[in-house]
Amino acid sequence: MNDMIHTLLAHRSIRKFTDDPIPDDHIEVATRAGQMASTSSAVQAYCAIRVTNPDSRRVIADLAGPQQKVADAPAFFVICGDARRHRLLCECAGQKYRQQLEGFLISVIDATLFAQNMVIAFESLGYGICYIGGIRNDLARVAEVLRLPIGVYPIFGLCVGKPAESPDERPRLPTPGVLFEDTYPTDEEVFAQIDAYDAAYAAYLAKRGASATGWSRAMVKKMDHASRLTLGPFYREQGADLD
Ligand SMILES: Cc1cc2nc3c(=O)[nH]c(=O)nc-3n(C[C@H](O)[C@H](O)[C@H](O)COP(=O)(O)O)c2cc1C
Repeated sequence: MNDMIHTLLAHRSIRKFTDDPIPDDHIEVATRAGQMASTSSAVQAYCAIRVTNPDSRRVIADLAGPQQKVADAPAFFVICGDARRHRLLCECAGQKYRQQLEGFLISVIDATLFAQNMVIAFESLGYGICYIGGIRNDLARVAEVLRLPIGVYPIFGLCVGKPAESPDERPRLPTPGVLFEDTYPTDEEVFAQIDAYDAAYAAYLAKRGASATGWSRAMVKKMDHASRLTLGPFYREQGADLD
């Protein structure tokens, strides 16, 4: 155990923040920590757009749910896969930017590693965070508000601020349920891990005053239908080739 691992194990999503502002040097150092995440062949296909304009925040908060924390958090970022600079470089060199699904996937992976490193840096400085997938409800509007050019793919938002709540840890699958050796386990083994987890998850929800369904039921409810069907067309419009 060390301070870094302690920070990681203490993670909880924070959805209520104090009004304390975040000093610019904390934003800068967290971003720098984000930049030091590994990046496929150094492509650095990401950017973070800090949204300070209150009108823009309000629009994004509304389309994301609404989620009031997006409007209220001391800092809010939209994390994007970013192939813009690569496109411009190809253009200037008289070449066509030719990247298919691999290029898009790299930008999503790079942006996610960048964001998670930022998150860890923020958490180590005593801030709380909450990722906001809700922005994917209407990415066309997000792109309009932030004036995103072709090649920039918003993926998720990120709220940051001093925590004004201290939620319980949300339990995870048992570690042997996600760490396998040599081969993938049998379906029976997979089910055995889930059974053990369902009870712990239901107890966590009951303690929060939510209806105490197990994780299995929650997952089926979430995954028995498709959602956000505009994503494919949106990312294609933004210049991603998903083939
Ligand atoms: C990509 C991503 C998107 C998320 N989107 C939202 C969101 O829109 N609103 C929200 O309240 N929490 C959101 N979360 C937080 C998850 O619900 C949370 O991480 C998960 O339930 C585990 O809880 P914990 O982070 O407190 O351990 C998101 C998390 C991730 C990784």
